[in-house]
Amino acid sequence: MQLTERTFIVTGGGSGLGAATAQRLIAAGACVTLADHDETAARTQAESLGANALAVTADVTQAADAERVIAATRDHFGALHGLINCAGVAPAEKIHGKRGVHDLERFRRVVDINLIGTFNMLRLAVAAMQENPATEDDGERGVVINTASVAAFEGQIGQAAYAASKAGVVGLTLPAARELASSGIRVMAIAPGIFDTAMMQGMPEEVRESLNAKVPFPPRMGHAEEYAALACQILENRYLNGEVIRLDGGIRMSAR
Ligand SMILES: NC(=O)c1ccc[n+]([C@@H]2O[C@H](COP(=O)([O-])OP(=O)(O)OC[C@H]3O[C@@H](n4cnc5c(N)ncnc54)[C@H](O)[C@@H]3O)[C@@H](O)[C@H]2O)c1
Repeated sequence: MQLTERTFIVTGGGSGLGAATAQRLIAAGACVTLADHDETAARTQAESLGANALAVTADVTQAADAERVIAATRDHFGALHGLINCAGVAPAEKIHGKRGVHDLERFRRVVDINLIGTFNMLRLAVAAMQENPATEDDGERGVVINTASVAAFEGQIGQAAYAASKAGVVGLTLPAARELASSGIRVMAIAPGIFDTAMMQGMPEEVRESLNAKVPFPPRMGHAEEYAALACQILENRYLNGEVIRLDGGIRMSAR
């Protein structure tokens, strides 16, 4: 898919990987809706990106919010061609740790945001993409990129909820790609390793340094721009479909 004159929704666009992706898309000539439940973050980012960016405050877990994001995008820009699901949370909690048993509502909340929120946006976005005219060459109508995590494959101690939610995102990607193939819509996922965003910036310096040292090469956290570059390549490269791409400097997470 070409990026210029195409319209994308980036959830979690107010921060980190989503914000960098929105920035790169705008620089490539696209229009972008930044959907985030942090109103100030989404608005500030959108304002910094200019007239081709639109901020919509939304909780991806809510059906009505997702409908509003898609309606606002189509009203403002005229169509929807791609969805990049970056909204997510990563709290840590042991199943049975010093503070007692894992809170059930906190487990549900992580799955709700990371997995159900991803599906909620996907299902409504592809319904809108079905209405796009198919491209003349391959008949493409749209692209969805989900954000998993290497925790989907190597969840660490304390990541039961997060790893389970991201494994769900991995599991969603292939059946969605298969089902939507007949509509000319591709579905891909990126599984990032450790990226230097707000999600990681709260960690003590010694923890960050020990994490950096675990990355084979380059021995540092990923830059959000590196995620954005892969997201744009996925959008542009029509032969990528139904796959989860690790973007992790070669890291394989240990148990702790
Ligand atoms: N940073 C990493 O190391 C890393 C690694 C693997 C996967 N990921 C995944 O990448 C995605 C982006 O993470 P990030 O590092 O940019 O984090 P981030 O905290 O910088 O950004 C996440 C954004 O999602 C938004 N958000 C959270 N819950 C929401 C909801 N219910 N509805 C709408 N928006 C919501 C937040 O307001 C925030 O702006 C997440 O899914 C995360 O799990 C990140």
